[in-house]
Amino acid sequence: MQDKLSSYISHKKKIIAEELNHYLEKLDIPQRLKESMVYSVQAGGKRLRPVLLLASYEAYEKNANKALSAAIALEMVHTYSLIHDDLPAMDDDNFRRGKPTNHKAFDEATAILAGDALLTYSFEVISGDPLLANKEKVYLTNMLAAASGPKGMVAGQLLDMKSEDRNISLHELEHIHTLKTGKLLTFAIMAGAYLGNADETQLKHLNNFAYYLGLIFQVQDDILDVTGDESKLGKPVGSDAQNQKSTYPNLLGMDGAIEKKQVYVNNALDELNKAKAANSTLHMLTNHFSEREQ
Ligand code: IPE
Ligand code: IPE
Ligand code: MG
Ligand code: MG
Ligand code: MG
Repeated sequence: MQDKLSSYISHKKKIIAEELNHYLEKLDIPQRLKESMVYSVQAGGKRLRPVLLLASYEAYEKNANKALSAAIALEMVHTYSLIHDDLPAMDDDNFRRGKPTNHKAFDEATAILAGDALLTYSFEVISGDPLLANKEKVYLTNMLAAASGPKGMVAGQLLDMKSEDRNISLHELEHIHTLKTGKLLTFAIMAGAYLGNADETQLKHLNNFAYYLGLIFQVQDDILDVTGDESKLGKPVGSDAQNQKSTYPNLLGMDGAIEKKQVYVNNALDELNKAKAANSTLHMLTNHFSEREQ
């Protein structure tokens, strides 16, 4: 089971890396900007979001070529969010994906601009894909903008910052994570299934599935910030404690956080079943999200 998933992930990662390269290489832009964008995009991320998007497509249709541009765009938005997240004004981190953060390798202004460029380029990637119908382009661009913008990830980042140095409830924590992490993961699931022509009922349950998946992902991120291995993670552990972040282990204790994660896993798998996708790779990916060490 695990081997099957590992080879699925490495196969997709290869395709995603090549496609990202293709989109970045063809840019005729100031060299330093390009280097900075390529640096973070090709720094060795896990590519979980684009893999998830392709797997969601394949839960309903074969041959995920049609879903590739959305997967690439999503990884670009995600990478931009990490570049900005690491900046001194935000989490002030020095390592990401096993390498110095973008502002350390380049400088703050370049890092900000590389992030801006990845975000905006993502919309060009989707809207310029000849494999997509106009209706699909509009739907995907709208959904990606909503997931990453003021109603989505950006709002989550602001609330996350505001939650430093104070105690928050589990309800508030879930709300922050749903926006900060969950919205982009939800885009992965919904964009893939939409392009794969899932029906309304399936999409409704997949939306619920993605909600739990986002929470699973973030509980594990919080757990790994305490118990993780820096060499596997490629980013420092203890960053949350240093920034006095509200996290699951903080709020519930380590055992409580692990128990909560299991509840989310059960709920996620239940929704996946209802979306008639219980036999898809999404099932294995859910367990992978929960147990990942990197
Ligand atoms: C890290 O995401 C940021 C969070 C939302 C917690 P990933 O753990 O997926 O980071 P990469 O893409 O593998 O670097
Ligand atoms: C980052 O969350 C989430 C986004 C960039 C949207 P974290 O700050 O928890 O991520 P890490 O731990 O730095 O990867
Ligand atoms: Mg952060
Ligand atoms: Mg951070
Ligand atoms: Mg974290």
